[in-house]
Amino acid sequence: MTREPETSPGSLRTDPEQVRVIRHIFGTVTGTYDLLNHVLSLRRDVAWRRKTVSEMRFFRTHRLLDVATGTCDLAIEAAQKHPHIRVVGTDLVGEMMERGRAKIRRAGLSSRIQLIQGDALGLPFADGRFDAAAVAFGIRNMPDREAALREMARVVVPGGLVLVLEMTLPRSRIFRPLYEIYLNRILPGVARLFSPNPGAYHYLARSIMSFPSPAAFAGLMRGAGLERVEVHPLTLGITSLHTGRKP
Ligand SMILES: C[S@@+](CC[C@H](N)C(=O)[O-])C[C@H]1O[C@@H](n2cnc3c(N)ncnc32)[C@H](O)[C@@H]1O
Repeated sequence: MTREPETSPGSLRTDPEQVRVIRHIFGTVTGTYDLLNHVLSLRRDVAWRRKTVSEMRFFRTHRLLDVATGTCDLAIEAAQKHPHIRVVGTDLVGEMMERGRAKIRRAGLSSRIQLIQGDALGLPFADGRFDAAAVAFGIRNMPDREAALREMARVVVPGGLVLVLEMTLPRSRIFRPLYEIYLNRILPGVARLFSPNPGAYHYLARSIMSFPSPAAFAGLMRGAGLERVEVHPLTLGITSLHTGRKP
């Protein structure tokens, strides 16, 4: 009997100009990315990833795909919380993953976490290879988000979970304007002190403000064929965890 290969060649489906922008932004912030994440979110990012990992269920392949893994925090958190699973992390930008690779080594997880460079819109994996596919703070950078969701759904088994953790705008009419001031004024100001590319944090503010509301994003997940879609607002709704199940 022939068995379908575990990986497939994948392809670069993201528009080349967008790939250039992504590589420029994330290739230049790599050294300060983790620190700024923790500072700018007052370390809430750690709790948000922890919540994401606690929603994961492993029942057939015992494998997780971490899409846009960056410096691999979600992959590491998942491998630590679920000691029986293996994790594959994938990202467009090699520099981000190199930093992640060093963290994986330090955590003693090199035998359980594998990193493969690839495009979320043309994932280099055959269908149904993972129990869950997750993306943390990555889908905002992808112009065709429904295509990214369809790819994640394709590579999970039936009954598997797709999880999307993303920064969103709070719904509160009092808190939201304050948060927008934080995004547009304070965040780029702090980034200027630490980051070699503070422009990346103006990009961050713009990309958060133009991201769909959690309800609209849940509609996108249903459009990608996922069912039982749920939204969990975190920290007053400045981040939301969206989950959906492949039928
Ligand atoms: C804000 S970082 C998030 C990294 C990590 N998931 C975390 O939780 O910190 C966004 C990542 O998305 C990656 N990315 C953006 N577009 C991508 C695409 N089309 N395919 C794969 N990775 C992509 C970037 O290279 C970057 O590493």
